Amino acid sequence: MYIVILAGGSGTRFWPLSRTSRPKQLISICGDRTMLQRTVERVLPLKPKRIMIVTNVLQAEETRHQVSGYHGVPIDVVAEPVARNTAPAIGLAATIIAAHDPRGVMVVLPADHFIRDEDALRTTLVAAGHTARNGYLVTLGIVPSRPETGYGYIEADTELRGQGPFPVRRFVEKPPLEDALRYLDEGSYFWNSGMFIWRCDTILEEIATHMPDLSSLLTEISFTGDVWELSDLQSQIGELFPRAASISIDYGIMERSDRVQVLPVEMGWSDVGSWSALPEVIEPDGDGTVSVNTAGHIAIDSRDCLIYGDGRLVATVGVSNLIVVSTPDALLVCHRERAQEVKKVVAELSARG
Ligand code: GDD
Ligand code: MG
Repeated sequence: MYIVILAGGSGTRFWPLSRTSRPKQLISICGDRTMLQRTVERVLPLKPKRIMIVTNVLQAEETRHQVSGYHGVPIDVVAEPVARNTAPAIGLAATIIAAHDPRGVMVVLPADHFIRDEDALRTTLVAAGHTARNGYLVTLGIVPSRPETGYGYIEADTELRGQGPFPVRRFVEKPPLEDALRYLDEGSYFWNSGMFIWRCDTILEEIATHMPDLSSLLTEISFTGDVWELSDLQSQIGELFPRAASISIDYGIMERSDRVQVLPVEMGWSDVGSWSALPEVIEPDGDGTVSVNTAGHIAIDSRDCLIYGDGRLVATVGVSNLIVVSTPDALLVCHRERAQEVKKVVAELSARG
């Protein structure tokens, strides 16, 4: 089993803790290890043959630094010169691994998710590997709890199949709210966790069928000598990537393929999409407040606040539903229901240059 970690996202909704050079996967929202490090540590007990991290050139150095302390499993870092979303990143990883092991099973994991029950994840990945060996694209499904429009929805054929994996009738990426509400109601839909398991040759065949332009770019890559000698490949990637269209694997393949199976898993999953997801990761106190990384939080007549203190003492008086994030050079104060709009701050900052 090969692990491919997608770590090239920008994570603008965690400003000011996350910045362009340190997006969500490279920061620690709670605890001492970053989201990327936790992702790596979570799969080490599976003893994968290799771990490949695909990231952006801007974050490559920090990424290498963060994984330099792990031994026992070789870890490769591949740097994209420009971000082209997840389909080219996955296609590239599959091409490199296939050059060495064409029928190898690859597990694709986002670098920025929180998982409470890591044993459940590992057991499920092993089971998914068996299904993937039979030529399926397997995705891990999560039972939905709200009409989230930022996720993919998977309609499964759950009849007579026990625990799954289930054949997928339909995969709908990021539906509008009215559809998401309907899917929630119907009960046969799962959220797509964004964790995929397949054989390299299976995904490359599906890319050839549904994304022929990407497929022909990938077949331009030539391997001479040791395929794991990635420095040889970086210049080819630098030339190829700007020519790839920017598209996610969800729109490019998962919505179109008829070889998808979903394996449901209950593992305390959160994609920690914004500051408002903090209570999914850390239990709130009796007043509904979560405070992280403070030197204490004095709450006077305050409730339901989300506070990141950067080692400072924080006090709140007579407020509720506030997000307060302190960092050495920037401070965020935001209504809890408007956490998604933090990305507008980042847009405004980059417009100012
Ligand atoms: N290497 C690389 N290059 N990685 C990337 C790029 C890129 O251009 N763009 C995104 N990533 C990484 C992100 O860092 C993240 O780990 C993962 O790929 C998924 O990308 P997101 O941008 O976070 O996707 P999403 O959250 O909008 O949607 C996906 O995840 C949802 C669950 O969290 C989809 O798979 C949805 O269907 C799914 O429900
Ligand atoms: Mg995401």
